[in-house]
Amino acid sequence: MTTTTTPLLPTRVDADRLLSNLERLRAIGATPEGGVTRRAFSREDVKGQEFVAGLMREAGLDVRVDAAANLVGTRQGRGGTGAPLVLGSHLDTVPGGGAYDGAYGVLAAVEVAHTLHESGTVLDRPLCVMAFSNEEGTTGTPAMFGSRAVAGCLEPGELDLVVTGQDRALAQVLDAAGGDSRCVDDVRRAPGSVAAYLELHIEQGPVLIGSGTDIGIVEGISGRLTAEVTVQGQANHAGTTPMADRHDALLAAARLTVAVPSLTGPGGVVRVATVGDCQVSPGAWNVVPGRARVIVDLRDMSEDNLRAGLDRLRAMGQEAGSATGTTVDVTEVQRVSPTPCDPGRRATVRRVADALGLSSVTLPSGAGHDAQWMARVAPTGMIFVPSEDGASHVPYEHTAPADLVRGAGVLLGCTLLEGMTT
Ligand code: GLV
Ligand code: MN
Ligand code: MN
Repeated sequence: MTTTTTPLLPTRVDADRLLSNLERLRAIGATPEGGVTRRAFSREDVKGQEFVAGLMREAGLDVRVDAAANLVGTRQGRGGTGAPLVLGSHLDTVPGGGAYDGAYGVLAAVEVAHTLHESGTVLDRPLCVMAFSNEEGTTGTPAMFGSRAVAGCLEPGELDLVVTGQDRALAQVLDAAGGDSRCVDDVRRAPGSVAAYLELHIEQGPVLIGSGTDIGIVEGISGRLTAEVTVQGQANHAGTTPMADRHDALLAAARLTVAVPSLTGPGGVVRVATVGDCQVSPGAWNVVPGRARVIVDLRDMSEDNLRAGLDRLRAMGQEAGSATGTTVDVTEVQRVSPTPCDPGRRATVRRVADALGLSSVTLPSGAGHDAQWMARVAPTGMIFVPSEDGASHVPYEHTAPADLVRGAGVLLGCTLLEGMTT
């Protein structure tokens, strides 16, 4: 058995168990390309949650699924029912995603709990391990459902939205996945009722691997604005409609898509901008497209910049509309504020990394995380480990086993520090 020691107590995570659990979870929703598809609330997602619930029980945790379909495992602390230390991340994936985004943070947290259980270590505080539901938001309803429910930030009417691929409202899908749509508001935690929230995650970017650094201490998480652009044109015969008489919706969407990178870089307003989803209707080779819909993702550490990006996107939509004789409508779908991590939790991560002899660097997170919502109820910290090739949301997402084990060792050390009241 390979082990990693923390300097704070003679306690080690079981590296083999952690790595083998990651492989077992990877098999649930495995794709032929070597990736994983566990879209939120799908059969695979529920199966993944059941598998992890079993691991939580083996780790000595009391397990339940809350009304927002978050999986919650709890270990009592010495002080009874005080504010818990929460460790978490998510189990759902993007379509054709990797095995580590989210899953690593949850399984490492379960491993930390298992290590405490085996060694008979009792923290002063209760410890909660949480796998938040629908972090990715790739099924037509807003992302980070479970952590937003905990933060009390669900959106009005959200439960009535239809879940892509299931053709049912989110409320029904949630109930089928073990949640309870009638009382999602009960999941809300008051600010201050959680002692601290820690999330371990793969970096999903190139900084740590490029600099040969073991551990990332996240200083803050990029904000995100998602906008839906709908173009209304006029469908007509592709062979008979003169070019001058067309109202081609896809052409407008394409003009806008080509212009989106100009929102970034010199003269731009946001750090990165992406069009990652496009639908065309009626979607036939011999019909001029009558409707098109693209989703635009803007990321920046400044909320003002995100708003400015949306304004520019609207202006670009007008331009694309007048150039093509179509009507372009730009609607904000979701805005997640940029979130700084708590200085105290950052200091904890640095202290543990130093004590373990690991190199560390402070860096921002370009990707979004449940930590953004948990930061509204608790002092929050995030730990990153290197991502090979800086790749994520792809089947070849990979982190070296030694890095996965190091990160779990850091999470264990942070848990021991944060779990004690003095
Ligand atoms: C979360 O996965 C994101 O897209 O940032
Ligand atoms: Mn992701
Ligand atoms: Mn993630």
